[in-house]
Amino acid sequence: MDDKKYIQSVVSSSRPKKYPQNKILLDKKNLEKALQLKGLKIQLKESLKGGFISQVYSANLDGKDVVVKHTSGSIPSDPTEMYLDKKSHNVDCQVLKNLQSNHKIKVPKLLYDFPNITTSVMENLYSQGFKLMQNKIFDKNLPINAAERVGRMIGNLIIESRTWKKFSVVQTAIMSIYERGLELRQSYPNSQKEYLELEKKYVENNKFWSWPDCHPKNIFVNKKGEVAFIDFGYSQWGDQRFVLPSHLAHIVIYCLAGYIGSDLAKEYIEKCVSAYREIEPIDELLFCQYLAMEVFHRANGKWITGIDTKKQKLALLKFGYTVFDEKIYIINKLLNLL
Ligand SMILES: Nc1ncnc2c1ncn2[C@@H]1O[C@H](COP(=O)(O)OP(=O)(O)OP(=O)(O)O)[C@@H](O)[C@H]1O
Ligand SMILES: [Mg+2]
Repeated sequence: MDDKKYIQSVVSSSRPKKYPQNKILLDKKNLEKALQLKGLKIQLKESLKGGFISQVYSANLDGKDVVVKHTSGSIPSDPTEMYLDKKSHNVDCQVLKNLQSNHKIKVPKLLYDFPNITTSVMENLYSQGFKLMQNKIFDKNLPINAAERVGRMIGNLIIESRTWKKFSVVQTAIMSIYERGLELRQSYPNSQKEYLELEKKYVENNKFWSWPDCHPKNIFVNKKGEVAFIDFGYSQWGDQRFVLPSHLAHIVIYCLAGYIGSDLAKEYIEKCVSAYREIEPIDELLFCQYLAMEVFHRANGKWITGIDTKKQKLALLKFGYTVFDEKIYIINKLLNLL
């Protein structure tokens, strides 16, 4: 039997047949040299993140603490993944530039952007007294005093981005929902209706900008409950109504996985939702469906840490199935599942 002919790989219709050649990431020494050749008096220090698509270092620039982010592309290693273009660097920097002087939305100051080596130099949020929300969650210390600010800042970001001129992105709406919705699709293999309805909404509402990556790994908070957002490389022109449920799905996920107490998670979600609502209305049905889709997406721990055990994974799956099977499409009822 010709297995090549009969095995149907999982591919998105927008997936390119051939990927561009991908240069390997510059290592620490070469990156430091490349930046010095650009005229910067810079020394790279410890790695804040190293991986396939980006390396982030703390650094010293003229005696000041900064962060250097170098981005590369990534060729998919399994058929459910997408090609990740190093030009996500340009998207990240474009969004940072659009927000530099905005008083309602805090992002790090962008000090230098070097597109030809896909590297940026930014203000170091750690040295400004900020901590990553994700780490606070893992310390069982969800920053409840940041809930309203996060809700308000997401609302303001959505409103502000409607004034932006369209810029090129590396991930289209269909790529984004395809990747994030795959687990929902596989959860209802015989109809796929649940996924397909959301795909249509996400793709058709593409007049404005959407940032699905607003999870606790991309949000900084300080003691006062002030908030800063990072990491916009995989944002796109798609349904903005996904941004808030995408964020709050992670509060649900870490609650169900045992890092956040149920009452605290509910309080965070209620505060965040009501602050957002003062700025932008919420379609509760769509909110609940998008949120449950993201919970399915993370149910096996995809792209996040902390979801490791059978108990945690089953709790996430149970939540997702309950929302869709029992049509729990009101936020208050959704909270009863925690
Ligand atoms: N301006 C900054 N100040 C302090 N730390 C930063 C800053 N930017 C990035 N970092 C650190 O580097 C990590 C990775 O940064 P970022 O999220 O922008 O890159 P990424 O390649 O998208 O990473 P990931 O895949 O982990 O989301 C952050 O979680 C944070 O710890
Ligand atoms: Mg990130």
